[in-house]
Amino acid sequence: MSNRFDDQVVLITGAGSGLGQVSALQVAKEGAKLSLVDLNSNSLEETKKLILEVAPEAEILLLTANVAEEAAVKNYVDETVNKYGRIDGFFNNAGIEGKQNLTEDFGSDEFSKVVSVNLNGVFYGLKHVLAVMKKQGSGSVVNTASVGGIRGVGNQSGYAASKHGVVGLTRNSGIEYGQYGVSIKAIAPGAIMTPMVEGSLKQMGGDNWEEVGKEFVQPNPMKRFGKPEEVGYLVAFLLSDQANFINATVIPIDGGQSDKY
Ligand SMILES: NC(=O)c1ccc[n+]([C@@H]2O[C@H](COP(=O)([O-])OP(=O)(O)OC[C@H]3O[C@@H](n4cnc5c(N)ncnc54)[C@H](O)[C@@H]3O)[C@@H](O)[C@H]2O)c1
Repeated sequence: MSNRFDDQVVLITGAGSGLGQVSALQVAKEGAKLSLVDLNSNSLEETKKLILEVAPEAEILLLTANVAEEAAVKNYVDETVNKYGRIDGFFNNAGIEGKQNLTEDFGSDEFSKVVSVNLNGVFYGLKHVLAVMKKQGSGSVVNTASVGGIRGVGNQSGYAASKHGVVGLTRNSGIEYGQYGVSIKAIAPGAIMTPMVEGSLKQMGGDNWEEVGKEFVQPNPMKRFGKPEEVGYLVAFLLSDQANFINATVIPIDGGQSDKY
C-alpha cells in the first residue's frame, strides 16, 4: 500500500516543539519530504533527530526563521521551493500564548507581540505559500487557530484577537483559492499537553502546576488534556488528498470544550 505522503513536500512552522513537531513526525512516517521552520535552531535539530529514528530515509530541510518577519517567511518559502520544486502541504502553525491578564492590564506591547507572531506570521505564510500552490493547481493548508479563536476564554486579549483572526484568514483565503484546487482549513485545539501549555500552567501554579492542570481540565467533557499525537493524526489527515474537499472551515479538536459553555 502506498503512503499518503509519498513524493509530497510538507512545510511546517513551529516544527521544533509540540504540535508542529508531532505533525512532522506523523507525515514523515508516511513518506513526506519535509521543510521545517522554527525560531529555535536547536529544537529543529531535535525534531530532525526524532524523525530520523522513525523515518531514516526522510529528506529534511531545516530553516531557522521568525515568522513575524515577512522577509524571513519569503525566504523559508523560497528555500523550500529551491530544494524541492513544490509545496504540497503547509502546516502554518507557529504561535505563542502571551502573558495572561485582564484586558486593561494586558499591555499594548504584549498585544502587538502576540498578534505579530500569531496573526501576521500566519498571513505572511499564506501570502507566500498560496502563490506557489496556485501556480501548481494543488495544495492543502492547515492554519493553527485555537478554541480561543472560536469563543471567549478570558485573560487572553492578544491570543483571542490573533486566533479569531486566523479563523477569518482561513475562511477568506479558502473562498479565494478553492477554484485553484487548493484547500485551506484551520484547526482549533483545546488544551493539548505541549511545552506551551506546561508553561502557562507554571505561570498559574508555579511548583504546583500539575495539580492546577488537573483542576484546569475538570470543565472539559472528557476531563483530560489532549495528546499532541491526537492533533498530529488530524493534521496529517487534513494535509492529505483525502481532505481536499474540506475547505474554508475550522475543525475543533478539544474533547467537546468549545460546545459545552
Ligand atoms: N497546546 C495547546 O493546548 C494549544 C491549543 C490551541 C492552540 N495551540 C496553538 O498551536 C500552535 C503550536 O503550539 P504548541 O502547543 O505546539 O506550542 P510549543 O510552544 O510547544 O511550540 C511552538 C513552536 O513555535 C516556535 N515559535 C514561536 N514563535 C515563533 C516565531 N516567531 N517564529 C518561528 N517559530 C516560532 C517555538 O520556538 C516552538 O518551537 C500555536 O499556534 C498555539 O497557539 C496550542
